[in-house]
Amino acid sequence: MRAPEITKDAKPGQFLELKVSETGEPFLRRPISINSIDGDLVTIIFAVKGKGTELLSKVEVGKKIDIMGPLGKGVFEVQEYNNVAIIGGGLGSYPLYELTKRLKGKTSINVYLGFRDKSVVTCEKEFEEIGVNKLVIATDDGSYKEKGFAIDFMKKDIEEHMVDRIFACGPTPMLRAIKKYAEENNIPCQVSLEERMGCGIGACLGCAVKVKEDGNEVYKHVCKDGPVFFAKDVDF
Ligand SMILES: Cc1cc2nc3c(=O)[nH]c(=O)nc-3n(C[C@H](O)[C@H](O)[C@H](O)COP(=O)(O)OP(=O)(O)OC[C@H]3O[C@@H](n4cnc5c(N)ncnc54)[C@H](O)[C@@H]3O)c2cc1C
Ligand code: FES
Repeated sequence: MRAPEITKDAKPGQFLELKVSETGEPFLRRPISINSIDGDLVTIIFAVKGKGTELLSKVEVGKKIDIMGPLGKGVFEVQEYNNVAIIGGGLGSYPLYELTKRLKGKTSINVYLGFRDKSVVTCEKEFEEIGVNKLVIATDDGSYKEKGFAIDFMKKDIEEHMVDRIFACGPTPMLRAIKKYAEENNIPCQVSLEERMGCGIGACLGCAVKVKEDGNEVYKHVCKDGPVFFAKDVDF
């Protein structure tokens, strides 16, 4: 989508709220991560899950679409590192692409992407073209590239070469396991949460998560305060 007002200061980890119908049904916008920014073009990738994404998949080329964004205050930290591990599961791989592009040249990057099976492997060529130190594509059933969970490949590499940051996005069980591993090994880790959302702007409380702040447990909005948090603060 061509959207200069969104692309001018969008950060990796931020998302968009897309209006999916002109009739007002369904009423709620749908949250989709920013996958890539190229000039004034913003790319999203989404899976058709229900009515909203089904309608979105039918939008014709050339048609205008109503987007709110970029949304989210908690974003992935782009700065100089020594080595980083970037790990995505399924749809969670999509926002990591813009992050990887922006980290290129600032650190050595290993990327681990896990998918259910071959049919849903996405963005492999794009990640390859960035030219990272290592790219592992894993499928749960072994139908493409490595067989197994992306986290196990990441752990094996970290045992040989410590990283100073893990960035992760994916299903909650995967993020929970990554948080545990990062804590055990003292590695700062940022996770992007994909909570179910209503309004997307902090007004409905639909996306509340329990997080630690200054030693206290508080509720935060994934849409407004996230979607990226430090794993150590999130109560999965
Ligand atoms: C911050 C964020 C980023 C996301 N990025 C992507 C992405 O890049 N690509 C992608 O394919 N999907 C992404 N999702 C998930 C996507 O928003 C849902 O698949 C989509 O909203 C489902 O809508 P639907 O109408 O097709 O399904 P329905 O099940 O009919 O949706 C009903 C309602 O539930 C909400 N909802 C349903 N599933 C989810 C979900 N998993 N997360 C959040 N809200 C949900 C919808 O917004 C809607 O309000 C993201 C979700 C969040 C919160
Ligand atoms: S989605 Fe409404 S407060 Fe976050």
